[in-house]
Amino acid sequence: MATTSTLSVIDGDSSAVVSLMEAVETANAAVTLADGSGPVRASRVRSNSSIRRRRPRPASLAPKQRVGAWRVEGDLGRGGMASVYAVTHAGFGKRAALKLCHRTVLGPDFTPEVFLREARVANLVDHAGMPDVFATGTYDGRPYLVMERLAGETLGQLVDRNALDRVAGIEVLLEVLDVLAAAHAAGVVHRDLKLDNVFVMREPGAGGRRVKLLDWGVAYILGEADPMRGMIAGTLTYVAPEQIRADELTPAADLYSLGVLAYHVLLGAPPFSAETDLELIRKHLHELPPSPRAAWPEIPTELARVLGGLLAKQPGERPPIDLVRHALRAARSALLPKRTLRHWITAAPPAADPFRRGVPAGKPRGKLVGAAVAIALTLASLASLVSV
Ligand SMILES: Nc1ncnc2c1ncn2[C@@H]1O[C@H](COP(=O)(O)OP(=O)(O)O)[C@@H](O)[C@H]1O
Ligand SMILES: [Mg+2]
Repeated sequence: MATTSTLSVIDGDSSAVVSLMEAVETANAAVTLADGSGPVRASRVRSNSSIRRRRPRPASLAPKQRVGAWRVEGDLGRGGMASVYAVTHAGFGKRAALKLCHRTVLGPDFTPEVFLREARVANLVDHAGMPDVFATGTYDGRPYLVMERLAGETLGQLVDRNALDRVAGIEVLLEVLDVLAAAHAAGVVHRDLKLDNVFVMREPGAGGRRVKLLDWGVAYILGEADPMRGMIAGTLTYVAPEQIRADELTPAADLYSLGVLAYHVLLGAPPFSAETDLELIRKHLHELPPSPRAAWPEIPTELARVLGGLLAKQPGERPPIDLVRHALRAARSALLPKRTLRHWITAAPPAADPFRRGVPAGKPRGKLVGAAVAIALTLASLASLVSV
């Protein structure tokens, strides 16, 4: 029997929502044609004209504003689900990061409780590469999490300014792999692995780690009811074929996204890109990724094979984490003697306000049309846009 999934979008930017919905409506027929097994269904997606915009609200919190006991200092970043602020506890001065849910993503399916799952997931996985989330609350009807404030940049920012050589890129990937291994062992699938959700700390953090894997908000906990059931949670550039098909989700979905991430970091671009979301979906489902040798002719054979394997259409055909780790380590060893610059990060981070410590407000990425859309995809967002 054919499986179906419904695409909808969580994002503060309703114009991006509309453009993705339009693409998905078009995708319905074509993806079904291309793939006899699993149509992507857009029947519940409303047309552009039915969308009424919410009355404008201030986009972000201002410095000195209070959120519960926390005083805002400034922006740290922004994603599809939330804005992240540098805050200080008014009582005892602890510095932290506060992730405040966008009002527009809340709705009957995406409730504050679903947003706050991130705190529980982050604490399910005991690993130095997990962010320490230690408080939650609600501000003006919007749920928020409070977590350790990190100093550094997202992997996306580093890639954008060519700040990583291949050895550094491999080291980041190895650390991401370690966090994924710990998460998978705890029965957690991240489901939204991408450049902007990997945070590279300027100084090694607890346990000598440099990398934190952020944004566990749409994670799937094996064996539990999935609040995103029937929807695609993830970002279209990175999303595994089985997520598009709404097949059973396993940790192998993260390995596919890791493959996309590795292509971007080591080969300069994600394996699949396209003018439209429809075309991108079709490529994830049916197209073979380009050979890694096209971008890196001397790539070690084992690594080339593993990168291709991570992007296998069938989850069961993707290599196990140990094999990926082995290939990355071997490639690092092969590259190290050739490395001329010993700096782990080869360029200085941009100057920034003290509270930001070199972390410019991130913009979401991962989509090709207009502003990038983090698609933790639920109809709740659409409902909330329409209902006001
Ligand atoms: N603990 C933190 N310390 C510093 N910056 C952070 C922290 N958490 C998130 N950020 C910044 O905020 C951005 C958005 O956070 P993220 O958790 O990915 O939100 P979303 O769920 O909306 O995608 C990140 O890409 C990063 O730049
Ligand atoms: Mg994010």
